Amino acid sequence: MTDLPLTRIAASEAKQSYIRSAVSITESLTEMAHVAKESDIVALTTLLSDPEISQPIYTLPAQINHDTVAAFIGQHLDERERGEGLLMISTDENGLATAYYDIQVWPEWASCKLGGAISSKHQNTGRGGSGALEVFAWLFEIIGVDLICETAALDNIRTARLLDRIGFTYIGEIDSKLPGGGLRPSRYWELKKTDWQHAQSKP
Ligand SMILES: CC(C)(COP(=O)(O)OP(=O)(O)OC[C@H]1O[C@@H](n2cnc3c(N)ncnc32)[C@H](O)[C@@H]1OP(=O)(O)O)[C@@H](O)C(=O)NCCC(=O)NCCS
Repeated sequence: MTDLPLTRIAASEAKQSYIRSAVSITESLTEMAHVAKESDIVALTTLLSDPEISQPIYTLPAQINHDTVAAFIGQHLDERERGEGLLMISTDENGLATAYYDIQVWPEWASCKLGGAISSKHQNTGRGGSGALEVFAWLFEIIGVDLICETAALDNIRTARLLDRIGFTYIGEIDSKLPGGGLRPSRYWELKKTDWQHAQSKP
């Protein structure tokens, strides 16, 4: 199993506490999403019950139902309190979940990893790419990380294309640890804040 992130630059105490504090006070991710709470269990369970969403993602509970999603939300609220993780959900005007974002944060490395999905009716419309860009900007600018890493299943072409276009550097294949035990081969990318800022400054 590979421990993430692969690139590890120790963050100063001040930076670590800034990141922990930014995570623990987060209520929303711009206007796109809010922190998933008990009131979101039904909407998130419905979203994650779609195999188009859950099949490619190894960090989700093995079984999706009301209880496992409630525990998943509770675990992330604990991580948020420690400044080490966030689970965010986007909902539409009818209260239906249209996307979710699962952010694992390593304050000690000023680094994080984003996972998530958008509802199948919104996939392949460019929305994943534009949403991901907004989340990456928020992670660098508001949460204060210096490095974002990403993993995807070997056959997840859309994620690979999206990350390549945004400017992530493909590092190679790693073994991801499954929450229920076992390993999944994954492709692995990184994006440094300095490289992202450089790319943003280009016309
Ligand atoms: C991954 C995901 C967020 C991407 O969002 P999306 O809106 O569907 O994707 P986009 O329309 O932004 O397209 C992303 C890229 O894949 C390409 N693409 C789309 N469908 C494709 C296909 N069937 N084959 C090859 N490439 C494809 C697009 O052209 C685009 O590439 P480009 O930026 O070079 O033009 C979304 O598909 C999703 O939620 N998938 C299920 C869960 C998942 O895989 N999550 C990521 C886990 S790491």
